[in-house]
Amino acid sequence: MGREKTLLRLLSCGSVDDGKSTLIGRILYDCGTLYEDQLTLLAKETTSEGLPDFSCLLDGLLAEREQAITIDAAYRSFSTATRRYLVADAPGHEQYTRNMVTAASHADAALILIDALRVTGELLPQTKRHSCICSMLGITDIVFAVNKMDRCAYSEQVFRSIEDKCRALVAPLGFRNVFCVPVSALRGDTVCSRSAHMPWYTGPTLFEILEGLEPPTRTEQPFRMPVQWVARSTDFRGLSGTIIAGSVAAGSPVLAQPSGVYSRIKAITTFDGSPTTAGAEDAVCLTLEDDLDIGRGEILVSPEAPLETADHFAARIVWLDETELQNGRTYIFRLATAEAQATLTEISSALNLQSMEEIPAKSLKVNDIGMVKLSLDRPLPFAPFKESPDLGGFILVDRISGNTLGAGMIEFALRRSHNIFRHDFTLDKRAYAAQKNQTARTLWFTGLSASGKSSLADLVAKSLFAAGKHVYILDGDNLRQGLNRDLGFAERDRVENIRRASEVARILTDAGLIVLGTFISPYRADRLAIRDRFNPGEFFEIFVDTPLEECIRRDPKGLYKKALAGHIPNFTGISAPFEAPENPDLHLNGTKPLEALLQDVLRFWESLK
Ligand code: ADX
Repeated sequence: MGREKTLLRLLSCGSVDDGKSTLIGRILYDCGTLYEDQLTLLAKETTSEGLPDFSCLLDGLLAEREQAITIDAAYRSFSTATRRYLVADAPGHEQYTRNMVTAASHADAALILIDALRVTGELLPQTKRHSCICSMLGITDIVFAVNKMDRCAYSEQVFRSIEDKCRALVAPLGFRNVFCVPVSALRGDTVCSRSAHMPWYTGPTLFEILEGLEPPTRTEQPFRMPVQWVARSTDFRGLSGTIIAGSVAAGSPVLAQPSGVYSRIKAITTFDGSPTTAGAEDAVCLTLEDDLDIGRGEILVSPEAPLETADHFAARIVWLDETELQNGRTYIFRLATAEAQATLTEISSALNLQSMEEIPAKSLKVNDIGMVKLSLDRPLPFAPFKESPDLGGFILVDRISGNTLGAGMIEFALRRSHNIFRHDFTLDKRAYAAQKNQTARTLWFTGLSASGKSSLADLVAKSLFAAGKHVYILDGDNLRQGLNRDLGFAERDRVENIRRASEVARILTDAGLIVLGTFISPYRADRLAIRDRFNPGEFFEIFVDTPLEECIRRDPKGLYKKALAGHIPNFTGISAPFEAPENPDLHLNGTKPLEALLQDVLRFWESLK
């Protein structure tokens, strides 16, 4: 499918006050195609200085949402005589880093607006952060537009000083092209035409710079299309998605990854008809010659150039959540249309935006950029981000809230995982459990310190033991004296404490035992991760729900007293959170007598048979 005009995806960064909307509106007015209603709007709206308010053009513009591009960022599209621009807006504020990252990961070039009046000494932190994120995300061309030159007497000295700072900032970031242009978005100086006010500037106008930018050619690359959904009817089964690189024709051989099955393209369908070929950016529905069971998340590729698949990566991450990123946590990992579970196995370093140096780090705070290692629960096809933002860029999503917590870029696959194999032994869990005449299971008691977990587990163990069962108690306090002796109570230590404890519980369950785990396990995410280590029907969460006041009153170890006096940091319920289970398998009222609670648990146990 030929397109007369090339498409350039431009990321525009800067605060509203920097004049971003006015600038884009100005380009549109001076050099683009305007609609009647936009002109009417422009005639009506004026700024406080009595000039036409070009920023209103943007608000009046219908954001032409491309079928081909489904990213969560504000897009505006406009055309000039030669090309079509898709402009993604990245607001300046730090809390919008998320939008910036999403938008930047799909942009060809970045336009960074700088308000000349606001740079007195150093460049603003947001200018540094934006430049850095752009480089990280593989944007090769960057344009600094130094705006509001009219408000600083069109001073060459002001511009040159800002230009020097910009060039120094990006020198180590490896951009292919860096442009710096003095403009007045409001008055139109150097936007689309040369300015009589700045005869000292002999470089290209902003518009000339933009028109000269070369978008990457995606068609010459090997064919890749992530399957977005399967279109089905009685006699039709088509794989829908957007081609992100390369091209296909009817008859082309294709390979689906990760499933590894081959077929050929039978027909191509689009919104406009049935072309014989399709290329990058086209939204298509492909029918294959074979009726393969392929769904969302698979990537169709050219069999001559398959993608690498891996389940362990080194990646760069921009952390976007107020809760710090912790080692050992599990997140939903989304790459192209595929989804897996990712566990963070290592935080290696964080980038210092002042010095641009990687410094060792244990956790990442909101808006931090760092290097990490991730391990997935299954291998996925990918490409390093530098080669393909579409197949190397991913997001991490919270398993409970569904919020996007971080955005990442795969640097390379780690090979370690390929050298470790699982050995299957003849005797398995069923055999061990059958010998003991029981079903192997883990009951996990969660609740505040002094809620009664250990005392209750003690009674349950005695009762099951008396009935001839092989049972074992794994207890937080006890494990912390040996296996977990090196761990404290900071969040990352508790994550590791629960990870190790639940691995041991799983091993003991594999050995055919009934395990009673008693750990505060205060974080919902960690309890979810425990469940993942078990098969369905093997793990049960029991919430010993005793109000904090009651635990403080009991205080068998005198710990609450100390914690309340400020002598124990990170004490659960006092100075560290307890995220109560929302859907425990069994919810116990911890104020009831222990004997009654024992009966509740035994009744629950019986109900499992
Ligand atoms: S967990 O949060 O990581 O699951 P775990 O159950 O292993 O904790 O250990 C909790 C026990 O450690 C408590 O019952 C208490 O005796 C002791 N303890 C010492 N310091 C703390 C603290 N800061 N917070 C909670 N428990 C603590």
